Amino acid sequence: GVVMHVRKVVVPVAGWGTRSLPATKNLPKEMLPVFRKPAVQYIVEEAIQADLSDVVFVNHQNKTIIEDHFDYNLALESVLERTDKQELLKQVREVAEMVNIISVRQKHQLGLGHAVLCAREVVKQEPFAAIVGDDLMFSSMPGIQQLIEVAQAENMAVVGVVPVSRDKVSSYGVIDAEEIGPHMYRVKDLQEKPDPERAASNLAIVGRYILTPDIFDHLEELNTPDRRDELQLTEGLRAMARKDRLLAVKLQGMRFDIGNWVDYLTANIYFGLQDEEVRDDLVQRLQELLPCPE
Ligand code: UTP
Repeated sequence: GVVMHVRKVVVPVAGWGTRSLPATKNLPKEMLPVFRKPAVQYIVEEAIQADLSDVVFVNHQNKTIIEDHFDYNLALESVLERTDKQELLKQVREVAEMVNIISVRQKHQLGLGHAVLCAREVVKQEPFAAIVGDDLMFSSMPGIQQLIEVAQAENMAVVGVVPVSRDKVSSYGVIDAEEIGPHMYRVKDLQEKPDPERAASNLAIVGRYILTPDIFDHLEELNTPDRRDELQLTEGLRAMARKDRLLAVKLQGMRFDIGNWVDYLTANIYFGLQDEEVRDDLVQRLQELLPCPE
């Protein structure tokens, strides 16, 4: 058959980031720096590594500095040029040259499913990737690439999952699934934020998806005008699971949820420890904070 070709990645970044207040009162959560770069730049770099050339941000009116980060800043460039800061100039320009940015608005923050639905007119009838703007993953093969390979081989939509401890399942969407290969599952059903006692598994969905355009029809159907609560992506995915058209892949690698302060701080230290210039001093400062018990 025809191999599924994935070119676009939808990156929802329109949420209020209430867990990260007051830091996010005016600064988007996705722009919080993780060591030298804003969080969302790692997402875009992951997309580039997986050959996804068009990034579709689903954005909010107060958060347009996210798009600006991936554009030129001519005033800054001219200063760096004049002061002969060539290396910084290169880094600042590179970000603008990374990808095509397409931006759509989510006018009301009605949940992740609703955010994805906002990208419908841009994505049209193609399979597409989706990565939430605040969930960072690092491994030798980019998280989204791990999903693309399975989606192409099986010609089906795929969600990324990771095992979490039982007491954490109530913060996630969880799959009810059957293992069909190494790290691979056929999804029979999904549960949104289940109580630990009734969770079908401890495999939690973590912000990486390869989706087929039929997801839009399912989300549209659920997005009725009288709806009161947020439209979760999990709800739309359930319809696909019930038709036997959804797989899950257990993602390999490090993961940091930027909306969680412990993960956020750990991500900063992780990158600091990998940086030659910073590592030794950082280790020393950490040791001052955590003196060894004698
Ligand atoms: P989260 O639920 O983690 O983000 O959504 P949030 O709502 O901004 O944060 P909290 O829970 O209030 O702290 C995951 C991603 O989906 C986007 C967010 O911007 C985030 O990157 N999102 C969420 C939207 O784009 N629209 C929404 O309506 C909700």
